[in-house]
Amino acid sequence: MTTPPTAQGKSHRLWGGRFGSTSAPELVALNRSIGTDFRLWPFDIQLSKAWALALWNAGVLSMEESVSLERGLGAVATRLAAGAAPEPTDEDIHTMIDRLLHEEVGDVAGKLHTGRSRNDQVATATRLWVMDACLALDASVRGLESVLLHHATKLEADEVLMPAFTHLQRAQPVAAAHWMLSHFWPLERDRARLAQAARNASSLPLGSGAIAGSAFPVSRVLLKESLGFAHVAPNSMDAVGDRDFIADVLYALTLLGVHVSRLAEDLILFGTSEFGFVKFGDRYSTGSSMMPQKRNPDVLEIARGGPARMLGDLTSLLVTLKGLPSGYNKDLQDDKRALFDAVDVMQLILPAVSGAVEELRFDTTRMRAALSSTMMATDLADWLVDHGVAFRDAHAAVGRLVREAEEQGIELDGLSPDVMAAAHPLFTPSVVRSALSPESSVARRSVVGGTAFSSVKEQLAAARASVGSSSEMPRGNELAIKD
Ligand code: ARG
Repeated sequence: MTTPPTAQGKSHRLWGGRFGSTSAPELVALNRSIGTDFRLWPFDIQLSKAWALALWNAGVLSMEESVSLERGLGAVATRLAAGAAPEPTDEDIHTMIDRLLHEEVGDVAGKLHTGRSRNDQVATATRLWVMDACLALDASVRGLESVLLHHATKLEADEVLMPAFTHLQRAQPVAAAHWMLSHFWPLERDRARLAQAARNASSLPLGSGAIAGSAFPVSRVLLKESLGFAHVAPNSMDAVGDRDFIADVLYALTLLGVHVSRLAEDLILFGTSEFGFVKFGDRYSTGSSMMPQKRNPDVLEIARGGPARMLGDLTSLLVTLKGLPSGYNKDLQDDKRALFDAVDVMQLILPAVSGAVEELRFDTTRMRAALSSTMMATDLADWLVDHGVAFRDAHAAVGRLVREAEEQGIELDGLSPDVMAAAHPLFTPSVVRSALSPESSVARRSVVGGTAFSSVKEQLAAARASVGSSSEMPRGNELAIKD
């Protein structure tokens, strides 16, 4: 099992031969990516096993050599899973695995890199990692969706009403479940985007070599099948330099972050004493070191700030890619820092926001009390329309009432019968009172996607059906790694 790490017995490098002297420490420090890419190891092992088999299949390795490499890679995986740490000289995870493989199987390890390059290797490992991450992210988003659905179901059953806002000014009454579900559907679109990003990642670079394609007759179709990719990348030059799939994930994550930030902002606002629609629970709120009375929604605030990081990661990747010459360039090494950072932040935010939202309590009395009769001004105009008045004229008549109420410092339903009749002859106190009811305002909006409880019930059923089904996503074949 123990042969010296390299023929020279020095640091284990994959490329030392043509250099007369050792590398400058500054180069080693700058070039080293193992601090970031270590987590690719399960996927690097997986693709390396498939490569060992492909080399046998191509007649490059004997059966014994291929099996020995595969076993050795299994042993390396066991050591890595048990916490084997990188040596200071390990440039990246591919180098470290190569070193460990030499320790496990000796000189035959030197045959594994036949016909491949770290260029097609890292692109393949990163794509496998992305497919895996998209599945995990889908589960986390579904977790948050379930919490929203749980609240929406209860709010719908209790027929809770609340004000909806445009320009952050009171606009019209809505079912509180309708508001809750307005944060659900963006997440469904995010899941579709993540699934598409995973599909885009499912194109196999392995076999592309450094740039021109492998010179050994490996079957890329068999590689694709054994690793669980949907397609074989059609151009080796493109395959080693293509990071579109990372940009896709980062965009999907940025937009997901934006959606979560908007939910967070609604809740932060509704949790202020001024609104008082929601109360934050104990497990996901924090206190103040100075003000004993404070209860702060830190989770929601961090979620509100999170997309700044994701957008930074997306921007940094796009700027890295822009103007890059074709093929692999070392600039690309930084792709994983952006990718892992965005996924990690999101995987911290989603469960915490799910927990914080789950323990929210709604003050339905305050929500209902925030509905002033003036918010039903449109309904009063609509009543006139129902009685033959053109909407423009109806709007103007109700506008006069609103101005009068504003001058008197009262709500619409406080106006005297004379004032009502002066605004429009059809207005009587009982007409005005019934048109200004929030219940009937909500009930009238029974179009598909409207806020009437009949529509919200259908919306809830559609939402439940969507969250119940996991996204159609490719997944890397995990068989190779399990032995
Ligand atoms: N650590 C490198 C990366 O992540 C691996 C590829 C190295 N390729 C090379 N030609 N030096 O991009």
